[in-house]
Amino acid sequence: MNMPTLTIGNRTARLPIVQGGMAVRISLAPLAAAVAESGGIGLIAGSGLEPKELAEQIRTAKSQTSGVIGVNIMVAVSNFKELMESAISAGTDLIVAGAGFSRDIFAAGKNAGVPIVPIVGSVRVAKLAERFGATAVVVEGFEAGGHLGTDRPMLDILPEIIEAVDIPVIGAGGVVTGSDIKRVLGMGAAGVQMGSRFAATKESSAPEDFKQMYVDATPEDMVLIQSPVGLPGRALRNAFSDRHVAGDNPKIKRCTSCLKKCGKEFCIMDTLVRAQKGDVTHGLVFAGDSAVRIKDIPTVRELMDRLVSEWSLATEGASA
Ligand SMILES: Cc1cc2nc3c(=O)[nH]c(=O)nc-3n(C[C@H](O)[C@H](O)[C@H](O)COP(=O)(O)O)c2cc1C
Repeated sequence: MNMPTLTIGNRTARLPIVQGGMAVRISLAPLAAAVAESGGIGLIAGSGLEPKELAEQIRTAKSQTSGVIGVNIMVAVSNFKELMESAISAGTDLIVAGAGFSRDIFAAGKNAGVPIVPIVGSVRVAKLAERFGATAVVVEGFEAGGHLGTDRPMLDILPEIIEAVDIPVIGAGGVVTGSDIKRVLGMGAAGVQMGSRFAATKESSAPEDFKQMYVDATPEDMVLIQSPVGLPGRALRNAFSDRHVAGDNPKIKRCTSCLKKCGKEFCIMDTLVRAQKGDVTHGLVFAGDSAVRIKDIPTVRELMDRLVSEWSLATEGASA
């Protein structure tokens, strides 16, 4: 038996696996192209990039694969509109919109014929997204890495949203293995989105120390931070998170007004860029709860082959 395919708009991926967009500069062309080339959907994270750089990343990824390449942009970033326009003109196959919701994004997607896929955490927002013209939705639960829009686990919210909307629903948060994928698809989801598992692959643009923190993570290492975006975020414990939790945030050195609204407790961009450049002690290392189940740093091809065979085993086991 083959894994089901995943269709979003007029593009179909051979596998129902979306590699979640991960800013800043964790999921770039090398990761997205490798995922798309292996049959999934690869997403380049646009937040924190200049529109021109995002376009270059999309063109590079597209030159390496004929698979499905999209972008993830956080609605909360000031240059969301410019990034979106740049992604559309560079030929993105879809736009996943995280960390916030705006009705304005749907018209631009519709005019350009590019599917808009918002990340949602409740039936209310999922229905709103469908009404405004979303092609699909990603339902992200509290266990996910990065900014969090709900305090409920994905497996709790997923059935409610599948019931409430008629567009494809993709489950995100805590998916690491082929048997996790089987469980989510078995609930009626059209696909899964996985972030942490792909952050710790060879092709991810996270530095080696960042990937190794995932491999070494224990449940005690998981922390929640309060992001200046106005949402909590799930990360791995380090000197930065210890200071943050103690209320001793690093001072903002330079503000580029990168967010539409910023609480200014600390500079989210600076801490994410720091971690991506290799300072995993003083930077912010976003990670999902699932990091504790990650034990190696495979290539994307190795990982995708493994996910397919684990899914097959779980599926055959269930039907035997
Ligand atoms: C390091 C990291 C960075 C992330 N950055 C973004 C982002 O820029 N925009 C977004 O919508 N989601 C972001 N996410 C969430 C992922 O796209 C994905 O939905 C999530 O990781 C799924 O949960 P999982 O980590 O348990 O697989 C990030 C996650 C991680 C681990």
